[in-house]
Amino acid sequence: MTSNTWLMEHTKVILLTALLVFVWAQIRYSISEEQKDGAAVGNIAKDLGIDHRTLKERGFRIVSTSGESMFSLNQNDGVLYVNGKIDREEVCERSTPCLINLKIALENPLEIHYVIVEILDVNDYSPLFPENEKRLEIGESALPGARYPLQAARDPDSGSNSVQTYKLSHNDNFRLEIKDREDGKIPILILHKPLDREVTKNIKLVLTALDGGRPSKSGSIEILIDVLDINDNVPIFTKESYTVVLNENAPVGTTIVQVNATDMDDGQNGQVVYALGNNVNNNLRELFQVNPVTGEIIVTGVLDFEVKDLYEIDIQASDKGIVPLATDKSVIIKIVDVNDNAPEIEVTSFSNAIPEDSRPGTTVALISVTDLDSGLNGKISCSISDDIPFKLMPSSHDNIYSLVTSGLLDRETKFQYDITLVAKDAGQQTLSTIKTITALISDVNDNIPEFSFSPYAFYVMENNVPGKFVFSVSATDKDSNENAIVSYQIWRESSEENKYTSFININSENGEIYALKSFDFEIVKTFQFHVVAADSGTPSLSSNVTVNVFILDQNDNVPVILYPVSANGSAEGVEEIPRNVNAGHLVTKVRAYDADIGYNGWLLFSLQEVSDHSLFSLDRYTGQIRTLRSFTETDEAQHKLLILVKDNGNVSLSATATVIVKVVEPKEAFAASDVKHTVKDEEENNATFYLIITLGSVSVLFVISIIVLIVMRCSKSTDYSSKYLQDTNYDGTMCHSIQYRSGDKRLWSGIPALLCSLFSDINHFNLL
Ligand SMILES: *[C@@H]1O[C@H](CO)[C@@H](O)[C@H](O)[C@H]1NC(C)=O
Ligand SMILES: *[C@@H]1O[C@H](CO)[C@@H](O)[C@H](O)[C@H]1NC(C)=O
Ligand SMILES: *[C@@H]1O[C@H](CO)[C@@H](O)[C@H](O)[C@H]1NC(C)=O
Ligand SMILES: *[C@@H]1O[C@H](CO)[C@@H](O)[C@H](O)[C@H]1NC(C)=O
Repeated sequence: MTSNTWLMEHTKVILLTALLVFVWAQIRYSISEEQKDGAAVGNIAKDLGIDHRTLKERGFRIVSTSGESMFSLNQNDGVLYVNGKIDREEVCERSTPCLINLKIALENPLEIHYVIVEILDVNDYSPLFPENEKRLEIGESALPGARYPLQAARDPDSGSNSVQTYKLSHNDNFRLEIKDREDGKIPILILHKPLDREVTKNIKLVLTALDGGRPSKSGSIEILIDVLDINDNVPIFTKESYTVVLNENAPVGTTIVQVNATDMDDGQNGQVVYALGNNVNNNLRELFQVNPVTGEIIVTGVLDFEVKDLYEIDIQASDKGIVPLATDKSVIIKIVDVNDNAPEIEVTSFSNAIPEDSRPGTTVALISVTDLDSGLNGKISCSISDDIPFKLMPSSHDNIYSLVTSGLLDRETKFQYDITLVAKDAGQQTLSTIKTITALISDVNDNIPEFSFSPYAFYVMENNVPGKFVFSVSATDKDSNENAIVSYQIWRESSEENKYTSFININSENGEIYALKSFDFEIVKTFQFHVVAADSGTPSLSSNVTVNVFILDQNDNVPVILYPVSANGSAEGVEEIPRNVNAGHLVTKVRAYDADIGYNGWLLFSLQEVSDHSLFSLDRYTGQIRTLRSFTETDEAQHKLLILVKDNGNVSLSATATVIVKVVEPKEAFAASDVKHTVKDEEENNATFYLIITLGSVSVLFVISIIVLIVMRCSKSTDYSSKYLQDTNYDGTMCHSIQYRSGDKRLWSGIPALLCSLFSDINHFNLL
């Protein structure tokens, strides 16, 4: 560098400094702003060295327009006054220092002076924020260190009277940083502790700006911070656990419980919806539903204690945040048993055909009862009616019974029992089940065949056709099937009593009896045999019956003349009587015999032919021939009498006898008839004697038989006819036929039978 350039450089500086000196040589005043109107700034005249008495003449005044309104010059003393109030901030705005150049002129002679008035600042303004309050929205997720610049406060004052610092009201989350800028200080909020909307939703801060005046002035602004929600809270159930008790079969729609979860977040993030948990299986989803809005859990299916008595379902509560948060809670539902199941009866090993000879205690069936309910609702009692010979025996297992017979069974009395089983549970409202099983009693061959009569009495006419059916026996058996099929047999035993069994045969199937030969009453009047009836059971049972057969008489015998009989066998005889016999003299007696009995054997005599009817009479019953009158001389010496002997059968049979009566002279007749008559008389006397005895005994027997009869009628047991007939064998009387004809009324047959013995004797006298 040359000395010239150095000089040139320095010349500039020197000139500038000289100018400054010149300028500084100007009159300069300082005055604070906001002075009172008319306050003196300075005496310009005096400072310029101008006599103030000449001022008026020379014309002293402010010529610059800028300061004209603010200041005024006193012409008398040359003092500069403030014209009204001066506001520095108004005049100079922000420029410092605030200098006002005044041009003062003296007109005669013209002289221009420059005066500088510096208006000094006074702290007359407070810092001021553009707004009273400021709203900020800060997410709660904001990280510490986040910066939020704020608007600076303004203070028109200058220098130290302008905003110097800021202060923040006390708070936990924010601090203040102040940044210097060219145009002032800017406050910046800095987050130093994370926000939590759930703790503090709004934060109110006061930011104060301070200027440097003494005393300093301040201005403040409210900063309202809204903490914005972030979905950072999980819904939380209000209860630790949910346990509910529910009756089974609760109707569909029943509310079981209402769960409640809350979410501290705001808005959608805090709105809770409920659902069944993800791990709840489909079966449970059919049974339960949860109302998404209210959290009510309702029943949607059939809950059966017997199927499941405890349910644990997860309920999920989630919020509606964009990324929802959810939580689960299990709800325990205990199902309470209700008596909704009737007992069930199961019958096993049932033998429905029980032999009638089963001993009491025989097991018939096993009964098992079940009830799906529990507790008392499932406690079962089982019973059967007690009017049947069965009972229930409890077994060692609960609810298993054996059905056993409790009495003797008899198929023939009752072949079928309807056993009604009643099972009842012990629930509050008892449920019961009835089951009826039918037990059939099976037959055992325990009944012997029984004959419809015992003994049998049959009446068979003699001369029956051999090989023809005569009568039948029948027996019944109360058992069934084979046990009741009866076969008949004649008990053939080679004893004297049974010798007639060879005469008869029996149809083993139907009991019809056939006679193999013709019976002859005159040979056998009665006989008996035994029929055995056996059933077809194994072993077979049998019984026997006595069959009494009574042969009935037929008039098959012709009367036989016993007297008179001639030497060549014809019924002829000769009687000699003396001529002098009186009327009524017994000539002779015709004796006859008839093998039949009763009417068939009851003989009547009649005179069929006689030479002189006036001479002889014949007793119809006795056969005695007597003279009717004495003989006269004219009577013939020989008379022939033809006597008819007739029985009383329906078709009567007869025989004739011829008696020749010879009338002889008394002397010759006497010898013959004397001996004869004495014998005859004796015989007649004897006959009379027997007759008396017989009549007496008959009377006694009659009385006895009446008594016996009465006794028998009372006891009704003994059979008279057989007893009587066994030891009687009467010939030639009407007694048997009378008796037989009244055979149906056997009890009464004793009387005629007894009477018969009398008749029989009388008949026998005829033989004499
Ligand atoms: C859920 O719980 C909250 C807080 O305890 C309560 O305000 C609200 O009423 C409950 N909702 C129901 C439905 O009970
Ligand atoms: C017939 O019955 C009697 C008793 O009623 C018995 O004593 C007898 O042995 C039986 N006879 C036959 C062949 O069955
Ligand atoms: C039997 O003798 C009698 C005489 O006594 C006679 O009349 C009768 O014809 C004889 N009868 C016969 C069958 O000979
Ligand atoms: C007896 O005879 C009559 C007619 O002659 C007949 O009607 C009746 O049946 C007979 N009686 C007997 C028992 O034969």
